[in-house]
Amino acid sequence: MESFHGKQATDLPADFSHRDNNWLWWKHGVIYHIYPRSFHDSNNDGIGDLRGIIGKIDYLSDLGIDAIWLSPVYPSPMIDFGYDISDYREIDPVFGNLNDFRELLEIAHKKNIRIIMDLVMNHTSNIHQWFKESRSSVDNPKRDWYIWKKGRNGNPPNNWKTVFGGCAWEFDESTQQYYLHTFFKEQPDLNWSNEDLKKTFFNEIRYWLDMGVDGFRLDVLNLIGKGKHFTNNPLPLGIPLLQKHKYTSNLPESHHIASDLRHLLNTYPERMCVAEVYSLPPGDSSIAASYLQSGDNGVNMAFDFSLMLRSWNARKYFKAIRKWYDLIPENGWPCHVLSNHDLHRHLDRFRFRRNKEKKARVAAMLLLTLKGTPFLYYGDEIGMRNAKLRKHEILDPLGKLFWPFFKGRDKGRSPMQWTDDHHAGFSESKPWLPVNTDYPEVNVRSQKNDESSFFHLYRRLIHLRKKHEALNRGDWSPLINGRNGLLVYLRVFGLEKIIVLLNFSPKRRTVDLTDISKGRVLLSTHRPVDEAFIPDTIVAEPFEATIVDLSKAA
Ligand code: NOJ
Repeated sequence: MESFHGKQATDLPADFSHRDNNWLWWKHGVIYHIYPRSFHDSNNDGIGDLRGIIGKIDYLSDLGIDAIWLSPVYPSPMIDFGYDISDYREIDPVFGNLNDFRELLEIAHKKNIRIIMDLVMNHTSNIHQWFKESRSSVDNPKRDWYIWKKGRNGNPPNNWKTVFGGCAWEFDESTQQYYLHTFFKEQPDLNWSNEDLKKTFFNEIRYWLDMGVDGFRLDVLNLIGKGKHFTNNPLPLGIPLLQKHKYTSNLPESHHIASDLRHLLNTYPERMCVAEVYSLPPGDSSIAASYLQSGDNGVNMAFDFSLMLRSWNARKYFKAIRKWYDLIPENGWPCHVLSNHDLHRHLDRFRFRRNKEKKARVAAMLLLTLKGTPFLYYGDEIGMRNAKLRKHEILDPLGKLFWPFFKGRDKGRSPMQWTDDHHAGFSESKPWLPVNTDYPEVNVRSQKNDESSFFHLYRRLIHLRKKHEALNRGDWSPLINGRNGLLVYLRVFGLEKIIVLLNFSPKRRTVDLTDISKGRVLLSTHRPVDEAFIPDTIVAEPFEATIVDLSKAA
């Protein structure tokens, strides 16, 4: 019988209790990513908060998700909007307090929704107490918790650049040494080769696990280990500020940290971690997969960003998916993602001016019918778009730095659109980032009343995935691999067999499925539910996406 933090499955609501021992929430469920500043503001200060999420828990439960991943809610000076943490054991007052967090955990768990926190291990904020002590003198006991080096002939220790561009070393006048920062200078890198630091940090992690947190999303896992040699990176890639991170990413030390962390998580029941392992476009899934290679020694899942970085093309999608599956080791598990707080919303990313909404529907059908855990980004379930922001509205330091060449990451972080009321029902005060102007049409309230909306499509898909084991854990076998814009695959578990047909193209396509048995439509963008599916007569409409149960004869 499945246990949930000590409870027996029989104590849980009915739809949870039928699952057997192999039903692992993070493998077979759907994970919903919340950018807390933008989800819902309960105290009307214009910034989303934990009580705002609590207030929307019924919405999330009705949508059918199994877990929430929260972007960081720890205290932070917010230079990088929370990815610069100044205390790993508290909640930033802008989001609430520890009691609010405990309440969120409890209420979410009662609804069978798990909570995954963001864990930033590569760096802290420069106002974290550890860093204050570390920078105070060269012989402070915490000096070695960060990466300090002497300069070379008045220059930085080596040529390393930050991921965001510019020198990765900051000179500290008081101790006349440089510290390393892979991101902004306010985000000094931790030294994971220091055993004291590691022990202390792992205790910070235990603190949340003991509280009942269900898992972690590991920020930039592949950048954490620095090696011993501090070798110069290869010369810049034609862009003077950037460089190839040959000696600053994917070093064996990052794998060791991942495995130690996994061992720690394994001492708690049903916990998980998912690693952010970013590689430059077009994306290299083998790097993400390398963190799964060691099975129980690696992370549970790693993000492969290659779908996010592909243009809208069935063949390219097929190849990326096939490659990702081929790389997953036997005891590893894939996950899939289309949007996040760094890379904007997929609806506007498909690089085609026309038919974006139709493509986004096909994309939703794909994401929620693939083998592997789907991660949804808040608002994608109502078809939210990137907000168009003016220069003075940009808050992301990257946008300020690189305007107008790169306008930053804010456009994919605009407030959730709940209603057509003022500020889209997100807050009664002016939101920290402008609400997208399409909120009078694109909002939760209006979509709930419209059976043909994105909301209902996502909701049905999530519930279908829950109900059909073939969808949440079955094997994936492709039948048509992207030719002529068609991607068709089977999902099979035991006697259950489901076929998914996706037409990426704006043209009608005749589909040759002569070897496939008849079935009934489970969900479709074009066909009524329960309609007979007779494989030898199928013509896929432009941008049609259809899921058919082949175990149910027509
Ligand atoms: C990756 C996070 O997703 C991004 O938002 C952040 O700026 C960097 N890591 C640094 O923590």
